[in-house]
Amino acid sequence: MHSDGVPVGIHDLTFRTTSLQLAHAELARHTGVPTAKYHRGIGQRAMSIPAPDEDVITMAAHAAAAVVERHGADRLRTLIFATETAVDQAKAGGLYVHSLLGLPPHVRVVELKQACYGATAALQFATALVHRDPDEQVLVLASDIARYDLDSPGEPTQGAAAAALLVTARPALLEIDTPSGLFTREVMDFWRPNYRTTALVDGRASVDAYLHALTGAWSDYRARGGTPLPKIHTVCYHQPFTRMAHKAHHHLLRQVGVSAGSQDIAAALAPTTSYNELLGNSYTASLYIALAALLDSGTPHDGATVGLFSYGSGSVAEFLTGTVRPGYRDHLRAEAHRAAVADRRSVSYGAYRDLHGRTLPTDGSRHATAAVTPGPYRLAGIDGHRRIYEVTGPAAGPRQPPTASRTTRTSAPTA
Ligand code: HMG
Repeated sequence: MHSDGVPVGIHDLTFRTTSLQLAHAELARHTGVPTAKYHRGIGQRAMSIPAPDEDVITMAAHAAAAVVERHGADRLRTLIFATETAVDQAKAGGLYVHSLLGLPPHVRVVELKQACYGATAALQFATALVHRDPDEQVLVLASDIARYDLDSPGEPTQGAAAAALLVTARPALLEIDTPSGLFTREVMDFWRPNYRTTALVDGRASVDAYLHALTGAWSDYRARGGTPLPKIHTVCYHQPFTRMAHKAHHHLLRQVGVSAGSQDIAAALAPTTSYNELLGNSYTASLYIALAALLDSGTPHDGATVGLFSYGSGSVAEFLTGTVRPGYRDHLRAEAHRAAVADRRSVSYGAYRDLHGRTLPTDGSRHATAAVTPGPYRLAGIDGHRRIYEVTGPAAGPRQPPTASRTTRTSAPTA
């Protein structure tokens, strides 16, 4: 059944992150960089750090579990896992989530990649699937860990989080509008070859490429009849660091001939940056965490048009809008989001460097990870090149206190 004008969009939106964080004030104490450069210059105050038993799968499963707990999985037909932190070159990470959550077998599961843009492609593909059959629902998971080399300029822009978006007909939160604006250009601003665990980046070039892509995507959006900027309530930008959103908004305002001071720009975007300034870059999830922050702030009025600018290095960008659905405030998860951010345990600079240096064995040998995460899913280890995940507690609710282990193997048992 085709949708025939039925609104389609984001019915539920939530995110989870790691259980550890490094404050930029602590980083500054050891790098000798003034704290103000981190706080004001790049707009970051803390970044999420994965514990040894946390990864993109455990974060995504945690976020997805809350969505499935609220809506069930009876109408779920597709799960799209968007990431640039893949744990396998062949197998979709979403399959582990499918198993951990006990999702029904009649769900297609795939993984999608194009740097930070991947989740926006997933959202558009999901929207098209639901337009084709409004009885179907699609779960989009965006999960990433941003890792740069220690002592590199990118180091303070690390972070990690996973967002879960349920895409349905007659959504409770945001209807996805048409048209959207696209811009693609092959550029080596940021990339991660298969043999590396940290990204390579030309920082300055990446900022320029982001702004260039914004110009291109916005021009295409307007040429296709998109809403003029003054009629857009707030724009959520991809936030590799939150000052990047300020730069982008300044750039877009200039493009449409509007001048605004940096204070005005900061005030306009503050509702979109409140989570990401504490989480750091979460690549695919970043834009949707900016959207969660905006909706949780309650500032858009029912029916408001919200802009979304998605940029993925390499590069693909899209400018799209959504219409805020009447009564959206009744469907938010602000308490759980604040808890996810606040409940992280701070680590020292030394502990952070130690965690950064850890890698899983690549020779097939058995390795058990330290049990650190208080979250409901953990990476228990690796054995014979297979990742072993465990369910350790209930996933629902804003807080997950540590619980005794209830092991669920999603892979071959250890010897
Ligand atoms: P840097 O070396 O820290 O740059 O690298 P900087 O020295 O120019 O300083 C940054 C800002 O801090 C400047 O402000 C300074 O003036 C200011 P700006 O000129 O930009 O307005 N500053 C201070 N402010 C207050 N008090 C002080 C002070 N000192 C200096 N005392 C860079 C910055 C972003 C390049 C680096 O962090 C980096 O390489 N990050 C990684 C790449 C990145 O995030 N790029 C963003 C665009 S690409 C993108 O978004 C895609 C991505 O998410 C990946 C994907 O798609 O998958 C990355």
